[in-house]
Amino acid sequence: MSRTTPEARPFSARTMTFVREQFAHLERDVHGTDRLFFENSGGSLRLRAAAERALDISLSPDSNSRPTRVARGLARVQKQGEEDLLAFFGGHRDGALLPTATASQAMFALVRVITDHVPGTNIVTTALEHPSSYDACTLHAERTGQEFRVAPADQGTGGIDPRAVAALVDAGTSLVSVIATSNITGAVTDIAAVVAAVRAKNPEVYVVTDGVQYAPHGIIDARAWGVDAVNIAPYKMFGDRGNAFTYLSPRLAALPHDKLAAAGSDTWAVGSSAPAVYAGFSAIVDYLAAVGDTAPGTDRRSALVAGMRAVHAHEQALLRTLLDGTDNQAGLRRLPGVHVHFADRAATLPRDLIVPLTFDDLPCTEAVRAYEERGVIVYERVASSPYSERILRAVGLEGVVRVSPLHCHTLEEIERFLRVTQEIAEKGRAGE
Ligand SMILES: Cc1ncc(COP(=O)(O)O)c(C=O)c1O
Repeated sequence: MSRTTPEARPFSARTMTFVREQFAHLERDVHGTDRLFFENSGGSLRLRAAAERALDISLSPDSNSRPTRVARGLARVQKQGEEDLLAFFGGHRDGALLPTATASQAMFALVRVITDHVPGTNIVTTALEHPSSYDACTLHAERTGQEFRVAPADQGTGGIDPRAVAALVDAGTSLVSVIATSNITGAVTDIAAVVAAVRAKNPEVYVVTDGVQYAPHGIIDARAWGVDAVNIAPYKMFGDRGNAFTYLSPRLAALPHDKLAAAGSDTWAVGSSAPAVYAGFSAIVDYLAAVGDTAPGTDRRSALVAGMRAVHAHEQALLRTLLDGTDNQAGLRRLPGVHVHFADRAATLPRDLIVPLTFDDLPCTEAVRAYEERGVIVYERVASSPYSERILRAVGLEGVVRVSPLHCHTLEEIERFLRVTQEIAEKGRAGE
């Protein structure tokens, strides 16, 4: 899938109905209150099957390392989950999977291993990184006495220009860490271009990418990108909280790392495994394959890629509607008193369905409360939060209302969101 010429194509009515039936609490919250959940970047709407299958598996007390019939069944569930993860990442068979409780834990673990074992004098990252990778790089650069270099964000696109990263790389660079989709601006990094640009200056450099916000929207292709690691968090991509997965390239997998003595050299999981989390992930892949609707017998990777391609095209249609509106309703670009950031180049530059906006006459925190009063959930990312400050300042902002719908939403729901936004802006302008 080309991320530079995003195709916008809504789902067929049949697919839309199927998709909406799979999600829990899509129209009402746990208290039965009507709401539009446009805060999927903070934790996405959940597939019923992902939670139900995980629960089903977790009801068995057996260890999957035992020889009983039940245990062998659990081992098969985990094996299928691992196959599905490899297919999802587009990873190399000789690579490894690191299961953790959070994506942040994984990032700290792999940055520590790389800084311990790959010789170098500097680490390169970007101003747009989530704290999990930025702080891991800062900490381990300091610990190993390496220089810490930060590529600036592009204030026009809210993204990262691969040339800005490559400009900081030299023969002494041990590690480059670049985010795939920004959790604040929605800008998508051309990871393959970053890898090509940095390896042109240093062929040995390790490259890791934070795929957490990219994963629900686009196709990860770790081998084609040429990265050494990609991490994801299922709770941002229709699954449960409490687990995360990272793909490691064969050469990264082979570096010395924490492991039990009896485990194989490419095993990164430490301690007993939880087949339930793999069952949940397989349910996500089954769902994507069903959305892709490919011919029976299609291999797993091709089937899920077809599904993700359809998801991406639908989301791009939602994004365009958000920005440009419909025949009945003005889009964010034309609403008086509303400013949507980095939208001017949205038609030509890849971005995911994460939209930062501000109101001329209303602070972000008040706008978020006004949305909730009108049955819409969004979230403010403001510079008073240490999690957001550096990233916001890097793109020249003090705060934004982050709007993050999901592919299970309809064009009509986007229209409803725009009507609510217009009402909030009018009230703000009237000083109410
Ligand atoms: C881009 C990005 N990376 C990493 C993380 C961290 O994920 P986790 O909470 O699983 O550590 C987040 C969470 O919001 C994120 O948005």
